[in-house]
Amino acid sequence: MGFRFFLFLFLASLPAFLAQEFENAIIKVDGATTVAETDANFICATLDWWPHDKCNYNHCPWGYSSVINMELSHPLLAKAIEAFKHLRIRIGGSLQDQVLYDIGPLRSPCHPFRKMNDGLFGFSKGCLRMSRWDELNRLFSQTGVILTFGLNALYGRHQIRKGTWGGVWDSSNTQNFIKYTISKGYQIDSWEFGNELSGSGVGASVNAEQYGKDLINLKAIINKMYNNSNVKPLLVAPGGFYEQDWYAKLLQVSGSSTVNVVTHHIYNLGAGVDPNLVSKILNPHYLSRVEETFKSLDKTLQTWGPWASAWVGESGGAYNSGGQLVSNTFVNSFWYLDQLGMASKYHTKVYCRQTLIGGNYGLLNTTTLVPNPDYYSALLWHRLMGKGVLAVDSTASPFLRSYAHCSKGKVSALSILFFFFFFF
Ligand SMILES: *[C@@H]1O[C@H](CO)[C@@H](O)[C@H](O)[C@H]1NC(C)=O
Ligand SMILES: *[C@@H]1O[C@H](CO)[C@@H](O)[C@H](O)[C@H]1NC(C)=O
Repeated sequence: MGFRFFLFLFLASLPAFLAQEFENAIIKVDGATTVAETDANFICATLDWWPHDKCNYNHCPWGYSSVINMELSHPLLAKAIEAFKHLRIRIGGSLQDQVLYDIGPLRSPCHPFRKMNDGLFGFSKGCLRMSRWDELNRLFSQTGVILTFGLNALYGRHQIRKGTWGGVWDSSNTQNFIKYTISKGYQIDSWEFGNELSGSGVGASVNAEQYGKDLINLKAIINKMYNNSNVKPLLVAPGGFYEQDWYAKLLQVSGSSTVNVVTHHIYNLGAGVDPNLVSKILNPHYLSRVEETFKSLDKTLQTWGPWASAWVGESGGAYNSGGQLVSNTFVNSFWYLDQLGMASKYHTKVYCRQTLIGGNYGLLNTTTLVPNPDYYSALLWHRLMGKGVLAVDSTASPFLRSYAHCSKGKVSALSILFFFFFFF
């Protein structure tokens, strides 16, 4: 764009019931330069592995929504995905590093997940049958899904002390799985390595040095196996919580151009059972705290991994299945839309919402598959907000959040998102 323009917006009249706190504000959107650029398909949603008997206290919000048992032929499912034309889906979650792919020789028998007290996250190892993988891919290809698949990064390792896993990753099962996937012609956008094993880990952790070496190995496997393909899947890692030293080390050890995408998870609202979730969601000062994480990751990538881009690989607001009667309601969009805006500003290319289905934070209702309010927030964002992120300068109170992007598919047009936090 060769010209420069500013957009002035005067919010001169707030609703009458706020009259005693009447306020003028000037919001300037600089349409001449973009401050960041997202991927064309920024919106992403996750599918998890949790079986129906994953419960929090007496509440079991997962139903039959897992990769392994969800009803793939439900008519609302395909419709919900197709509305995006190309929806990114990331398959992953806590149990990902216990999934065996039922192809080729295995270290232990391929059985479904079952409850096991001393198992990681309270479950045994699980099994992805190739017939199920075929069915999933049929759905994905029919509905235009862009798929990120999270691989088991603990295979072949052992626990060296509580919560810490060591040893070299055994790539054999993954190799057979990728070979099968290629032989069937299934399109994979990206292979992700591991789930929440970074830093001090959630259920398990692996040190960054070993992780980096295993990534070099996986990259070589992908390069070799996709040698004859014209599109090569991206390598994504580590899909965990951001800890600066660990992430920096991972990039140094794995080296230039090994990892294409650095993923991190966000659960900045705390535990799903917290009775104060709503007041956190409606407090802009609270919501802004996580800005530090985006800033720091951005800096780490500039310093140690300029070849890689940042994605939020999983983010559900409140952890442990989300907040009942909160994460699936209208108020949650104040958190969600703010996250989409904030992440874009800090050079995040893709933002994966936990979940498409399952838990209390599904974009779709777990049992009926009817869209929840956040589904429409995601769709609205996807249809209106283009790749170019614009700088917004605002004199308004922190209770007015504003984000601006170039409009999707239009030249010289802006999409501006405002939302105001009301208190009664
Ligand atoms: C990739 O394929 C080309 C020819 O198709 C071959 O010359 C080359 O050695 C292969 N590279 C690897 C790493 O297998
Ligand atoms: C799904 O919808 C049913 C029926 O409206 C409702 O009772 C239930 O709480 C919803 N579940 C979730 C997880 O949103």
